[in-house]
Amino acid sequence: MAVTPTIDEAKLEAFMERFVGELGACATAPMVLIGDKLGLYRAMADSEPVTPTQLAERTGTNERYIREWLCQQAASDYVSYDAVDGTFRLPPEQALALAVEESPAFIPGAFQLLSAMIKDEPAITERFRSGDGFGWHEHHHDLFEGTERFFRPGYNAHLIAEWIPALEGVEERLHEGIRVADIGCGHGVSTILLAQAFPNSTFVGSDYHEGSIEAARRAAERAHVSDRVTFEVAGAKEFAGGPFDLICVFDALHDMGDPVGAAQHVRSQLADGGTWLVVEPMAADSVEDNLNAVGRVFYAGSTMLCTPASLSQEVGLALGAQAGQQRLTEVLNDGGFSHVRRAAETPFNLVLEVRP
Ligand SMILES: C[S@@+](CC[C@H](N)C(=O)[O-])C[C@H]1O[C@@H](n2cnc3c(N)ncnc32)[C@H](O)[C@@H]1O
Repeated sequence: MAVTPTIDEAKLEAFMERFVGELGACATAPMVLIGDKLGLYRAMADSEPVTPTQLAERTGTNERYIREWLCQQAASDYVSYDAVDGTFRLPPEQALALAVEESPAFIPGAFQLLSAMIKDEPAITERFRSGDGFGWHEHHHDLFEGTERFFRPGYNAHLIAEWIPALEGVEERLHEGIRVADIGCGHGVSTILLAQAFPNSTFVGSDYHEGSIEAARRAAERAHVSDRVTFEVAGAKEFAGGPFDLICVFDALHDMGDPVGAAQHVRSQLADGGTWLVVEPMAADSVEDNLNAVGRVFYAGSTMLCTPASLSQEVGLALGAQAGQQRLTEVLNDGGFSHVRRAAETPFNLVLEVRP
């Protein structure tokens, strides 16, 4: 006979109290998407107080909707409210996080990525039953643009200033002029940043997703780096054009079905004395050590995006976004690389220097 577990009323109450906060955070997601899309945050970026009428006029929107949105944002502590004159204000810190696309603190991209996870939930629920994969390319467009906008602030802050100098002997060679490949490059944010910083080197970005490569090409045109950057549609086991002196894979190895096969191919395309830069989501080696705020976000992304992506491809190793350095090292060793060193890290990124 099944035993009914005893309910601790105090623990239940505490969990329900926490739930109000959880629900409020989730309900704020569409508010951020609206604020971002309609330019509401940007229209308040000067941190001056506004009435709902003024903000509606400034953004060509409807006052009644804006008033309700502003009240929700004030309840969320995203904007402040002055009850005396009925004005709302976006504080400078929130303005940096919500209105300034190039700031290292910019967060609306994360919400855009999240919206793709919610839109594609029915397909992933079905995959839980069937065990089939769901390719990166099958997701809503918000995933591709959201990933670009979510990752860019971190790359802006760390790639050129910290990660490249942390690789032994690489920065000098990039300044002199070498050949670089960026595999699984998505919209090419990392490729373009590298090309801007090291104009004497040449860069080939590749990704199996055609739509992402088209977006990357347009971005390279806008950034005026098309003279030294090309983008090609190619899988990680097919990209050509080597030998490359530096090969990079940013947050894509664990999304691949066959990361060992990809590593073997990287080995065949790497020049003698070359370096492979592998950036993966920050993770510890054991589940219990990943049960924290960052792990909570990454395990969700892994369930909805990374694991189904890998399962959709050949081999379907499904490393997951929280594999950790030890498991990644095994994969890299199996692919023919014996040198794996943690060169740098951030709360979100694990940066590995990899050599044969
Ligand atoms: C999380 S996104 C990262 C994109 C980009 N590197 C960045 O940091 O912005 C993962 C990328 O890996 C690509 N990808 C997945 N499997 C691949 C494969 N087998 N070969 C090449 N690219 C692949 C996806 O299309 C997607 O663009």
